[in-house]
Amino acid sequence: MKATAEAPANIAFIKYWGNADANLRIPYHNTISMNISGATTTTTVEFTSSLSADEVFLGGNKIDGAGAERVSAVLSHIRKMSGSKQYARVTSSNSFPTGAGIASSASGFAALAVAAASAAGLSLTEKELSTVARLGSGSATRSVPDGFVEWVAGNSHETSAAHTLYAPEYWDIVDVITVVDASEKKVSSTLGHSLAQTSMLYKGRLASMNQKVEELKRAMTDKDFARFGEIVEEESFNMHAIMMTSQPSVLYWTPVTVRVLQALRVWREEGLLAYATLDAGANVHVLVQGADVAEVEKRLKSLEGVKKTILGRPTRGAHLVK
Ligand code: PMV
Repeated sequence: MKATAEAPANIAFIKYWGNADANLRIPYHNTISMNISGATTTTTVEFTSSLSADEVFLGGNKIDGAGAERVSAVLSHIRKMSGSKQYARVTSSNSFPTGAGIASSASGFAALAVAAASAAGLSLTEKELSTVARLGSGSATRSVPDGFVEWVAGNSHETSAAHTLYAPEYWDIVDVITVVDASEKKVSSTLGHSLAQTSMLYKGRLASMNQKVEELKRAMTDKDFARFGEIVEEESFNMHAIMMTSQPSVLYWTPVTVRVLQALRVWREEGLLAYATLDAGANVHVLVQGADVAEVEKRLKSLEGVKKTILGRPTRGAHLVK
């Protein structure tokens, strides 16, 4: 009744922002991401008759409130599937320093889904595991399969699931995570998703997404990095335009964020292909080809206000560990 799993964070190339069904975390359109090696969560789940409620520990500290409730929601789903009534002790730790501003619910809920299913004695398919992870956090859906991943929006719990587009070895793309702000994000993505509809730009965004997904897939098939980078950077700005024009407005960027974004434009004019994508925070994920990592890292570290860089290489999805 005990199992341990490890899962990576992922960086979205096509973003998930806004829910068609907020309870089930079903998005309006497909999204695409890459699992990254630099930031993983390891989680152990033990179901035991000695507990009268679920217990959740993160980095040695007991968690309660909304975070623990989300964990319990995933555990309750597993209990329903297995017919068990036992509560669980969950112990989780991140490979990256907590509070580094890159903490990811994706790695956490993907590891939880895989560990909890195994601890409950269920043998679920990868697709089923991705749907269970989704109940904790939408982006966690994509941290279950390996490598480059597509989350198909679907229209029900069973159909909103992720699958691998390409294995990690397919393309040597590196996410140079550029930490400019190490604090907790000010507006949670849960709240952000619920505000998306209030932006007058959101209808236009949704109307463009299916075509954008197809164009990105074509750039990936062709391994056309410049085209890929242009689509990914536009997509991140598109999502941040929704955030900024929501009511109330959500602005995640700091002056250092903008400094990094401006620098990338100058470097591209010099022929160095580096493109930005940002999640719900100020830190910039700079996507480069493997051969350019050292040069880009050196340049990023020389920018005033950049605290550090963390490398995320394409990696496998959530898996059990002994
Ligand atoms: O999984 P959530 O609810 O934390 O949402 C993640 C949202 C973004 O990171 C901003 C985009 C994405 O697709 O990962």
